[in-house]
Amino acid sequence: MNRPANLTLNVNGATHVVSAGVDTPLLYLLRNDLALNGPKFGCGLGECGACTVLLDGIPTRSCVTTARVALGHEVTTLEGLGTRTALHPVQQAFILEQAAQCGYCLNGMIMTAKALLDRDPHPSDDTIRRELSRNLCRCGTHVEILRAVHRAAELLAARRGELEGERV
Ligand code: FES
Ligand code: FES
Repeated sequence: MNRPANLTLNVNGATHVVSAGVDTPLLYLLRNDLALNGPKFGCGLGECGACTVLLDGIPTRSCVTTARVALGHEVTTLEGLGTRTALHPVQQAFILEQAAQCGYCLNGMIMTAKALLDRDPHPSDDTIRRELSRNLCRCGTHVEILRAVHRAAELLAARRGELEGERV
């Protein structure tokens, strides 16, 4: 039985208590209870990547991840990366490269790219293609998305340079 209980979720650096069964998909709690609409419902089967969030920094498909799995872990959604007035460099890069048509895949692309750049600040084309290969884009925006990830790497490197400069 998936009886409702008070569940404590750590999302984007804040603690939230929601009333839900532990087997409820994390995506439903994020979108319906916490009004975080960055993660999208695409296939609902773990296949397309539109619902990707970071679970302790690891790209995770929230449509097939239950609340039980998320308990005690840090969930980051697109809303946790940046704000409208202070975008995260990965968000900035996707805008600068106009890497979207309908935009439905972008949440998954950006979250996956962010996790990749955290691990590998200067990924090769092959690495980016491999990492994003399970995020589906029906509009065929792949070339722009590839460019956006490289641009994000440059923006992040520049930002690191500025911070190092400030410390000197
Ligand atoms: S909606 Fe989750 S992978 Fe497609
Ligand atoms: S831009 Fe439409 S699905 Fe990727």
